[in-house]
Amino acid sequence: MLSTTEKTGLRICSLVPENEARLKEAARILYEGFNECWPGSYPNLESAMEEVRASLGEGRISRVAVTPGGELWGWISAAVQYKGHVWELHPLVVKEQFRRQGIGRALVEDLARQVKERGGLTIWLGTDDETNMTSLGGVELFPGVLDHLTNIQNLHEHPFGFYQKVGFEIIGVMPDANGLGKPDIYMGMPVR
Ligand SMILES: CC(C)(COP(=O)(O)OP(=O)(O)OC[C@H]1O[C@@H](n2cnc3c(N)ncnc32)[C@H](O)[C@@H]1OP(=O)(O)O)[C@@H](O)C(=O)NCCC(=O)NCCS
Repeated sequence: MLSTTEKTGLRICSLVPENEARLKEAARILYEGFNECWPGSYPNLESAMEEVRASLGEGRISRVAVTPGGELWGWISAAVQYKGHVWELHPLVVKEQFRRQGIGRALVEDLARQVKERGGLTIWLGTDDETNMTSLGGVELFPGVLDHLTNIQNLHEHPFGFYQKVGFEIIGVMPDANGLGKPDIYMGMPVR
């Protein structure tokens, strides 16, 4: 069976500072993609653009999925940690009308290859639940945080379900990370 990237001719390549138009496209899909579930995380296009520019710095990986016509459909970035053994994935976004076609998966697989080439062993990420999309949102997690975590349910298509499908597992949670009842769910995957 053909993969999405084969079917659409999508290419995954590095985001480079010279391509200003592409940086702006990445900022736009970030701004639009995060606003729905994480209102205020990028209050305007400028703040999204700052995130995009930061992804071009030292110790970062920044990769985009681009159509043969040059349109940007997805963006993923990661930052090195723990002396290069661990990379933190942040952010990942796929343009809304092209979701559920395997592009997010292709970007994560590409990132894993990039991390492996650099000698990394683990990719981790934090995915917030600020709008009660999971059973961890809107409840008191103490005491028995790990029991809540073991019994987590995906109530409204929170992206932790996506990450599980592409190889991550839940490795922890920070209760009230974003205010009372708004935890950050930690996930990790091995790179071998
Ligand atoms: C999360 C996101 C990157 C997924 O990208 P995508 O291109 O739609 O994902 P894919 O099509 O590669 O999906 C891979 C698998 O995960 C599943 N999946 C995708 N989104 C999901 C979700 N929200 N919940 C549960 N499963 C999901 C797909 O159905 C697919 O399953 P399959 O392999 O059984 O067919 C995309 O929805 C997005 O950009 N969302 C807004 C920003 C965001 O949430 N970023 C992550 C913040 S931590």
